[in-house]
Amino acid sequence: MSQQLFTLDYLDTPPTAAADHAPAQGVRVSPATRTGRQRKLYIESYGCQMNFSDSEIVSSILFDEGFDTTEQLADADLVLLNTCSIREKAEQTVRMRLSQINSHKKRNPGMLVGVLGCMAERLKSKFLEEEKLVDLVVGPDAYRDLPNLIREVDGGQKAVNVLLSRDETYADITPVRLNSNGITAFVSIMRGCDNMCSFCVVPFTRGRERSRDAHSIEQECRDLVAQGYKEVTLLGQNVDSYKWASEDGTEHVNFAQLLERVARISPELRVRFSTSHPKDITDEVLHTMGRYENICKYIHLPAQSGNSRILKLMNRTYDRPWYEERVQAIRRILGPECAISTDMISGFCSETEAEHQDTLSLIDWVQYDMAYMFFYSERPGTLAARKLEDDIPLDVKKRRLQEIIDLQQKSSAARNQQAVGKVHRVLAENFSKRSQEHLSGRNSQNQVVIFPKKHYKKGDYVNVFVHTGTGGSLLGDSVE
Ligand code: SAH
Ligand code: SF4
Ligand code: F3S
Repeated sequence: MSQQLFTLDYLDTPPTAAADHAPAQGVRVSPATRTGRQRKLYIESYGCQMNFSDSEIVSSILFDEGFDTTEQLADADLVLLNTCSIREKAEQTVRMRLSQINSHKKRNPGMLVGVLGCMAERLKSKFLEEEKLVDLVVGPDAYRDLPNLIREVDGGQKAVNVLLSRDETYADITPVRLNSNGITAFVSIMRGCDNMCSFCVVPFTRGRERSRDAHSIEQECRDLVAQGYKEVTLLGQNVDSYKWASEDGTEHVNFAQLLERVARISPELRVRFSTSHPKDITDEVLHTMGRYENICKYIHLPAQSGNSRILKLMNRTYDRPWYEERVQAIRRILGPECAISTDMISGFCSETEAEHQDTLSLIDWVQYDMAYMFFYSERPGTLAARKLEDDIPLDVKKRRLQEIIDLQQKSSAARNQQAVGKVHRVLAENFSKRSQEHLSGRNSQNQVVIFPKKHYKKGDYVNVFVHTGTGGSLLGDSVE
């Protein structure tokens, strides 16, 4: 079943390339994957890929409790919204959705409504006061408690569990794959974040960083291969700080080693990962990428700003020369073909025009393949909200953002042009949106490539000669 993408809520602005395959975005509704259960769950996910991945864990926990999934809100006995707090707009979207759900609930008073994820964690029981229709508020580390909480709600009470954990990784839970194309899957390798970027709410909503048992990650990837999956994306807020040790202390696994373990499962399995933090990405990771053809040559390396003073205020713990050195290391070890993408924030506290120009010059210097771009949105409780003044007027933030977007579009177009006239190995993932006679897939660099289907099918690796580069995708023809 194909993904249903209704809005781009994680993104205040659409990415300039590869929009279909961004690591995080939008709202998805679960398809009816199983039948024969007594009650029906409808779950929508907002925010980043980790939330989507969590919804698959929630569905698995509730399947064992007798819940089937449905894609019809009107049929649901339980409606769950897995929410995001990253920017104010993300929270507004959820509130609007809740008021729509309220009208369904009026028609079907037996319907239970729950809020999960980062907004649940941020607002806690305040949610129940603010949104009267909500029965259930559950934070990201409390999903195992859902069956008990639902029983409480069935008994006529409201239920809240927003306890954060130092060790919960849901390692033993096999996710129910929602919206799956059967080819690509996301595998969560860690939870939480120990960085304290001053603008960011994630450390408060997701808690302390913890790494999942390496064996359970490998096993999940092996199971996916056995089911015919061809690509996994290893997920974490800062994958480079992945660090796991066995209880007896005999085994230690860092991110480069984990990447290698997963890459060795099968040469037919592509491996991607997100997100890399510029302060932590090591040459060891880059060399591991270079050694394995099946580790995709694509790195999401969010800079946030091109100016060292702003980076310091953001508490990113690197400066511009450090970031540039990491980009040079990527080019040196993996060559110019390795794609790099970024996240950028315009109008952070006290940012001057000259400092904004530094962000533009960084974009120009790196020539990113793709970028997610936002204007700064102050989040309550963060370091910036407590210590810095949100003093850049909205119109200035938006104008700077537009300049960033315009420049990035040129950079994406130039990278697309470089792909023309070459043969790319493409993993066919779906039919093209426009025609059932065309397949759509991605090359190692995460660029979307569309080509006539001929005898190929979803899940095939196809060598495609790219003849045209359009705004968002590449057009080509298969070669034998
Ligand atoms: N862990 C990732 C980022 C996760 S949040 C990393 O460190 O790169 C995704 C992106 O949202 C961030 O990279 C940042 O660009 C943006 N973002 C986070 N907080 C924001 C805020 N308060 N206002 C605007 N954009 C924000
Ligand atoms: Fe937020 Fe920074 Fe952690 Fe990313 S690394 S989730 S931006 S605190
Ligand atoms: Fe949003 Fe939480 Fe992810 S705030 S971006 S859903 S970690």
